[in-house]
Amino acid sequence: MVSPTPLLTLSSLVLVLLLCTAGVNSSSTPPTKIGNGYRLISIEGTPDGGLVGHLVVNQKNNIYGPDIPTLQLSVKHETHDRLRVHITDAEKQRWEVPYNLLPREQPPVLKQAIGRSRKSPITVAETEYSGSELIFSYTTDPFGFAVKRKSNGQTLFNSSSDVSDPFGNLVFKDQYLEISTKLPNDASLYGLGENTQPHGIKLYPNDPYTLYTTDISAINVNTDLYGSHPVYMDP
Ligand SMILES: *[C@@H]1O[C@H](CO)[C@@H](O)[C@H](O)[C@H]1NC(C)=O
Repeated sequence: MVSPTPLLTLSSLVLVLLLCTAGVNSSSTPPTKIGNGYRLISIEGTPDGGLVGHLVVNQKNNIYGPDIPTLQLSVKHETHDRLRVHITDAEKQRWEVPYNLLPREQPPVLKQAIGRSRKSPITVAETEYSGSELIFSYTTDPFGFAVKRKSNGQTLFNSSSDVSDPFGNLVFKDQYLEISTKLPNDASLYGLGENTQPHGIKLYPNDPYTLYTTDISAINVNTDLYGSHPVYMDP
């Protein structure tokens, strides 16, 4: 990445990206909200300076398959301008690009005993975890997180939604993942693989963009294994 924008990495590919801009008048109906998000039931610091927490689904449903009931969240300022947010199934190992093929910091190991007996969510409304350039903050119920640039206070990513927003909260299913962020009304976005949709190559609010991937056996050396590299630019 050549842009100065910090890299946010999520544990798995986002399969469907819906671009939503607050307040945009669009003739298309807003996308249906698929779930009610998760709530954060615990969060603590790790010895290496990161955070690890657990999320529990709010009101399961079976749209696009059952929700993963508990998730493990880990957050770490890996360098002064790189923050990593990793969200995965808290109970079962999910496939990830092997760490020996792509060396990177390992997230904390999955803990078996999650404080399920804890009925009330933790009470802190919004808490900040600051690195030298970036500030991570979160809300507990529904869980959402934001990343701000310290130097100018600009919000770079914010997954929380207001009731009036056309997008919902975090959805995490076996074959459907959804996480959204708000963009300014006048944002010009490009990327995610160019396309020939009627609006041209500029990404258009509420248009769905499908990411098709290649999948090549890992037996082949020196080749790309998965062919989807979702990147968008906000110039
Ligand atoms: C994130 O969005 C929510 C909902 O609009 C808002 O209340 C909150 O202040 C935002 N947080 C940041 C850090 O921008």
